[in-house]
Amino acid sequence: MGGNVLSEAQRDKSVPVSGLVSRQVVLRSRPDGKVTESCFEFREVPIAGPADGEVLVRNLWLSIDPSVRVRLGADPVPGYLPPFAIGDSLIGLAIGEILESRSPQFAVGDIVTHIHGYRDLAVIATEGATLAGVGALTKVDASVHPPETYLGVLGSSGLTAYVGLLEVATLADGDDVWVSAAAGAVGSIAAQMAKARGHRVIGSAGSDAKVAYLLERLKLDGAFDYHTDDLLGALEEHAPGGIDVYFDNVGGRQLEAAISHLKPHGRVALSGAVSEYDTVETAYGPRNMFQVVSKSLTLRGFRSGAYNHLWDAMREELGGYLRDGRLHFEQTVFEGLEDAPSAVVAMLNGRNYGKTLCRV
Ligand SMILES: NC(=O)c1ccc[n+]([C@@H]2O[C@H](COP(=O)([O-])OP(=O)(O)OC[C@H]3O[C@@H](n4cnc5c(N)ncnc54)[C@H](OP(=O)(O)O)[C@@H]3O)[C@@H](O)[C@H]2O)c1
Repeated sequence: MGGNVLSEAQRDKSVPVSGLVSRQVVLRSRPDGKVTESCFEFREVPIAGPADGEVLVRNLWLSIDPSVRVRLGADPVPGYLPPFAIGDSLIGLAIGEILESRSPQFAVGDIVTHIHGYRDLAVIATEGATLAGVGALTKVDASVHPPETYLGVLGSSGLTAYVGLLEVATLADGDDVWVSAAAGAVGSIAAQMAKARGHRVIGSAGSDAKVAYLLERLKLDGAFDYHTDDLLGALEEHAPGGIDVYFDNVGGRQLEAAISHLKPHGRVALSGAVSEYDTVETAYGPRNMFQVVSKSLTLRGFRSGAYNHLWDAMREELGGYLRDGRLHFEQTVFEGLEDAPSAVVAMLNGRNYGKTLCRV
C-alpha cells in the first residue's frame, strides 16, 4: 500500500487523518516552443487532514485540457487565469471520491468534481475557488453514468459545446455548421449535437485517420484534414455554398478560411485557439476581417464558466443523446498520475480522440 492510501483506521471518520502525502505534478521549466514531458516533475507534499468546511478527496480521473498549456507560458493573457510559476503544482478539472468530510454538505464516498487535479490527494474547501467559473466542488450521480463522463461529455467539454452552439452561435433551423478540432472532446460533442438537431455538419481534423473517424464513426456530412494548402477548396467541396455557423476550437488559418466561407449573417463561436497555444511563434491572424463587415458576420468569444445556469439543460440533452446512441463519445485514457505530463503532450499534438483523461 503506498503512502497516499488511507488505512482502514483513517477511513473511519473518528480517527484523525494525519501524515498524508499528496503527489503532485509541478511545473519544472517553461516550454520553449512545444511542451515536453521534461517541463514537469513530481513532488510529494505533506497535507493536513481537512479542517471544518473542507473535505479530503482521492482523485480518480484528471481532465487533460488544452488550456493548461496557456498557463505554462510566462506572459499573462489578459482576462485569463494567470501563468503558473515555476515550482507551482498544476491545477485542473478532476473527479474524485471523498475520503473524509468536515462539511455537512458532503459525505464519505461522495463522487465530486473540482479543480484540484494533477495530484492524487487534495484537501478542498467546499466554498473554494473555480477555474474561470467551472469546477466548484460539486457532487455528481455516478450511478447513472461512469464518473469520468462528468469530465467529458457531461462535464466542461459538453457545456462548452452546448453553450457555443446554442447561446453563442445561436444555432437556428437549417444552419449549415463547420466544427474544427472535430475529433477532440469539445469538437466531437458540438458536431454530433448539431447533427442530432438535424443540421448538416462538416468537421476538420489533423490526419486521414481522424477524417475517416469523423465520417464513419461520428457520421458527419463531410470532413477534411486542415493541413491542406487549399482550405477554401476543401470547404467549397464539403460545404458548397457556404456555412452559417463555425464552431472554432483552433483559431489561425481555419478561422480565416471560415470568415471567407461564411454566408451573410453567419456566426462564429470562438471556443478556443489551440493552434496558438503550444508555440512561441506569433499567432496567425485573419487577413480578411473586412468580410466580417461586408457579410454582417458575428464573431463571439465565450467561456463556458459564465453559463453555469445551463448545466442541467446540457446534461438533459446530451445525456439523452448518449442513452439513445446518437452521441458517440471516445476517451483517450492515460494510466496513472505519472502519465499526466505525457497526456498533456499527446493531446496538444493531436494524439487523442475525444476526451483526454488520466486515470489516477
Ligand atoms: N471556451 C471554453 O469555455 C472552453 C472550454 C474547454 C475547451 N475550450 C477550447 O476548446 C478547444 C478544444 O478543447 P478540447 O478539450 O476539446 O481539446 P481536444 O480537441 O480534445 O484536443 C486538442 C486538439 O487540438 C488539435 N490541435 C492541436 N494543434 C492544432 C493546430 N495547430 N491546429 C489545429 N488543431 C490543433 C488536435 O487535434 P488534431 O489532431 O485535429 O490536430 C488535438 O486533438 C481548445 O481550444 C480549448 O481551449 C474552450
